[in-house]
Amino acid sequence: MSEMLKNEDLDPDTMPRSPGVTYQELLDQDSHEVPDVLRMQSPKDLGLNDYSVNRYISADYHQKEVERLWKKVWQFTCREEDIPEPGDHYRYDIAGISFLIVRTETGEIKAYPNACLHRGRMLKEFDGNAAELRCPFHGFAWQLDGCLKDFPSAWDFPQINNEEFSLPEIPVALWAGFVFINPDQDCAPFDEFISDLASQFERWDLGALYKEAHVAKIMPCNWKIAQEAFCEAYHVNATHPQIMRGIGDTNSQVDVWENCARVITPGITPSPLLDYEITDEDMLRSMMDLPPEAEVPQVPEGMNARAFMAAISREGLRASAGARVDEYCDAEIVDSIDYTQFPNFHPWGAFNKIVYRFRPNGNDHRSCIMECLQLLPFSGERPPAAKVHWLKEDEKWSSALGFLGKVFDQDSFNMPKVQMGLESTYKPGITLSGYQESKVRWLHQKFTEWVGD
Ligand code: FES
Ligand SMILES: [Fe+2]
Repeated sequence: MSEMLKNEDLDPDTMPRSPGVTYQELLDQDSHEVPDVLRMQSPKDLGLNDYSVNRYISADYHQKEVERLWKKVWQFTCREEDIPEPGDHYRYDIAGISFLIVRTETGEIKAYPNACLHRGRMLKEFDGNAAELRCPFHGFAWQLDGCLKDFPSAWDFPQINNEEFSLPEIPVALWAGFVFINPDQDCAPFDEFISDLASQFERWDLGALYKEAHVAKIMPCNWKIAQEAFCEAYHVNATHPQIMRGIGDTNSQVDVWENCARVITPGITPSPLLDYEITDEDMLRSMMDLPPEAEVPQVPEGMNARAFMAAISREGLRASAGARVDEYCDAEIVDSIDYTQFPNFHPWGAFNKIVYRFRPNGNDHRSCIMECLQLLPFSGERPPAAKVHWLKEDEKWSSALGFLGKVFDQDSFNMPKVQMGLESTYKPGITLSGYQESKVRWLHQKFTEWVGD
């Protein structure tokens, strides 16, 4: 039976919420002008129903996802800067299907199924640069623009009309330096799909940043388990207790729109779950990851700790980001502004530098690919984009991503245990909170829309 999908606006002033300062009240104390995008609030009442554990443990549900979601939806593949030169190509795989993203002679970006039109071999196994797309099996070759170039023994294929034997094109769209494709050639327009996210990122031009790091790892859980570990701050108290002194976990603001949602978690404000007095020094030590013996910089008289931390960070960013840093308010510098574009693309706002992506690992619904890109400002010529750094099974995120990696390692520790728990539970569904976990709930509503129950 299909559930009723509830989706009603909530009144931010009267809805149930965590004790402690609200996110909007923190913005009132900002030392800079706060942009409209942070003043927006879009809390939603999405109902309180549970979601079936089959979504994580059933091969049948995975197959439905492949057919109804992955073969139909706009999805992020690579950055434009990953394929800067004509002939550069990037292999993008999703749920056991492969696509080639190619920079043509004219500089345009095209996407093709990664399959030869002769007997179907993958055209390219690796990212790289090539003057043509020649199949390694019998040698059929296509130009970068997809037109058939040549093939051996043409006399033996009288049925092939060269003009018609072009690689099928897959819809491609560009946004903020990200290349999206939609495997469905009859898909809805990208501009509509991305409109909410695009309008909110006008101020934060991710296209002007470069990809400084790109780390990937196979995680032993369904892709949605990994993704949902990053879609709420409710887990901070139990999973990352070391940052509670400096992060307003349960004060996070959660906003839901049609195809995108966000969780903004304030930094340099203590968790309302702590029942003892937190000093500025405690907050700064926790968020700067300083050991107990290290000296913490003193917050000057008359300045609040958020403004102080933002001021320090602004100076750190100034060399690469220039005068822009002075326009960014404290919140844009110290808060986690974590957006999600359905189904699996997670760019953070402002100078947060993080982009996540989660997707199935081939057709195994019990493992997934988790990736973290870091985007940074630069001055002068654009530095080359970082290549994907694959972590091995026993390698930690912290070996590649420092402080952030330590936090990921804590999140990752839960993932296979969540998978095992969901395989074992006698309870038919997962239970979600009404507000703090509403981004997870929104994702599940979208899955219901696209995939079914
Ligand atoms: S399968 Fe590609 S040339 Fe034969
Ligand atoms: Fe986490």
